Amino acid sequence: MEGIPPLFLRFKSKKLDLFDKLITDMGPLGRHSYLPEDYFMFPKLEGEIKPRMKFQGREMLTWSLNNYLGLANHPEVRKADREAAEKYGLAYPMGARMMSGNTVEHIKLEKMLADFIKRESVMLLNYGYQGVLSIIDALVDRKDVIVYDAESHACIVDGVRLHLGKRFIFQHNNIEDLQKKLHNAKKIADETGGGILVITEGVFGMSGSMGNLKDIVKLKKKFGFRLLVDDAHGFGTMGPTGAGTDEEQGVQADCDLYFSTFAKSMAGIGAFVGGDEKVIKYLRFNTRSQIFAKSLPMSFVLGMQKRLELLKTNPELKNNLWKIVRALQDGLKKEGFNIGSTQSPVTPVLFKGGTGEAANAAMDVRENFNLFCSVVIYPVVPKGVIMFRMIPTAVHTLEDVDETIKVFAEVKKKLDDGVYRRMELIELESDR
Ligand SMILES: Cc1ncc(COP(=O)(O)O)c(C=O)c1O
Repeated sequence: MEGIPPLFLRFKSKKLDLFDKLITDMGPLGRHSYLPEDYFMFPKLEGEIKPRMKFQGREMLTWSLNNYLGLANHPEVRKADREAAEKYGLAYPMGARMMSGNTVEHIKLEKMLADFIKRESVMLLNYGYQGVLSIIDALVDRKDVIVYDAESHACIVDGVRLHLGKRFIFQHNNIEDLQKKLHNAKKIADETGGGILVITEGVFGMSGSMGNLKDIVKLKKKFGFRLLVDDAHGFGTMGPTGAGTDEEQGVQADCDLYFSTFAKSMAGIGAFVGGDEKVIKYLRFNTRSQIFAKSLPMSFVLGMQKRLELLKTNPELKNNLWKIVRALQDGLKKEGFNIGSTQSPVTPVLFKGGTGEAANAAMDVRENFNLFCSVVIYPVVPKGVIMFRMIPTAVHTLEDVDETIKVFAEVKKKLDDGVYRRMELIELESDR
């Protein structure tokens, strides 16, 4: 790299128009934009949401949808969605909750959720990403200190970006490092008179590992922090009743704020945050993404009530999911695959290889085996690692699992034999 000036210095000598600059450097993901659209980036999965869907006109066995409990296409869900849309359309209620967008059904859904996750109160959020970002913004001021896990989702990272005070990142799930960072955070908070907010996830969406909530909450007494848990992947999938990763680890009472989206197990749109009544009341008056944006449409709210009712009353949904998870993960391990540290339905399969090989392998899987799953490459995983990421659901079958393991056995053989390396490499920008 010696001799090549950094990008901003190169632009310094020749002033570029804003848009010219943007299209010169498309950004970390945009760098892959030259790849065939609709294939690696922005692929289109068509048809009903179920394990077999159409991709490029062909039926594929699909492991790419966070429809953990199979609710997306559940007949009762489809009926509830249909009837609610028929009755209310998508417009009602108009406006933000605080102004003109509140209804008894929004309040009812909040009560149902609060009961289920064992919190005093819940606030609905119109989207998870904006919700988390804005909750973080509302919770802290410049005197406060944030300490968050290094593998946090973009919504947490972006929420922390809004923070005007100090922040520390702790190594992923590393309690020793968290203690070090809390020590530093406490020093600052003692000086400023501020508080400390620790943020982590229940289930990490890429690796599938659980946040070490049990050990984190043990540190609360010593360091006096509050804990926000993003459990997007744990709600509905973890814990005896499906109430989440904090239920799974027996620490619901110690996780001060519990967040989840409706975009995964609930197969919908929207999100929620639960906690003590007074804190949630504060958030209702201070979460800018909710105060200055339209509330969830009624048809979404009624649809989520139906999903939650099914989630609570049909334990077989979660049992089916875990039957598939166990079969898939045990089967892959038995065949000698590296599935990393997952403790949840998220199932990564890790191979060694360059990103060009990853693209060839992904194409082979799609073109020759009619199997569709996400392929994750550098910078999300370290250079030289290829991750196929699979999301089992309650509506996959054991036959789907067997078929998939056979496909992966073929892929592994080809990777080991260097077949994908010898094929014409689809060059990805991150290899250049
Ligand atoms: C961990 C995590 N938090 C938050 C979100 C954002 O949720 P939403 O899709 O509702 O914006 C996601 C992804 O959907 C996620 O994986």
